[in-house]
Amino acid sequence: MPTDGIRPLVAGNWKMNGLRRSVDTIEALKGRAQEGVLERIDMLVCPPVTLVALAVKTMDTVPIHIGGQTCHPAESGAHTGDIAPEMLLDVGASYVLTGHSERRTDHGESDSDVHAQTLGAWRAGLCSVVCVGETKDEREAGNEISVVAGQIAGSVPDGATAENTVVAYEPVWAIGTGLTPTVGDIAAMHDAIRAELTGRFGDEGGKMRILYGGSVKPGNAAEVLAPNNVDGALVGGASLSATDFMGIADAVAGLVKPES
Ligand code: PGA
Repeated sequence: MPTDGIRPLVAGNWKMNGLRRSVDTIEALKGRAQEGVLERIDMLVCPPVTLVALAVKTMDTVPIHIGGQTCHPAESGAHTGDIAPEMLLDVGASYVLTGHSERRTDHGESDSDVHAQTLGAWRAGLCSVVCVGETKDEREAGNEISVVAGQIAGSVPDGATAENTVVAYEPVWAIGTGLTPTVGDIAAMHDAIRAELTGRFGDEGGKMRILYGGSVKPGNAAEVLAPNNVDGALVGGASLSATDFMGIADAVAGLVKPES
């Protein structure tokens, strides 16, 4: 359940999926989002980098944010195949994911890499969605809270604010598997992350959005996103379908307390 005073964020990570025809999904999202959900929540779509400019153009007047899935820390230079945060900004992105577990695993990205990427994102003016989460072994050993606290300490730079940083908690074993932690485990982790953020950043840490990610679907969203300090979702597989992604967005909008 989104923290009082925090505007929730529902973010979609398309990963390495999508060709130009996938703009149909963006068109469909655009249509559905105009039905009012954006009055209550923010939405973000992170398509593969080849589609970022097209997605920005397609969203045009609808304020769904578009983001990248990773970035290089530097502004430019001899880094073949890499994308600078300034390049994402240049084509209209406003967010970038940093430290997704698939980047940490597939490309050996460490907390200090994620820290540098996040600083690069801020330099360019992008909001960084810093991803953290424990493996199955780490959870089975009972170390999940300390692992995630360590990732936050190492990956989130000093100077983080509610404007420039979102933290996404994604247990590695729940990503793409259909498995999710219990609601109690999600609540315990999000409370611990909130305590880390307020301990380090004071009041600002109380305003940062903490997303849950890992097998969020329309059918489980209201349940897994219900605990306190869950300020939205980072959605992989289900974000490839406009219907499913909007189902999750609707569920999060339904958890927002009406203004009194
Ligand atoms: P999933 O992916 O929703 O397909 O589990 C989440 C993510 O990796 O961001």
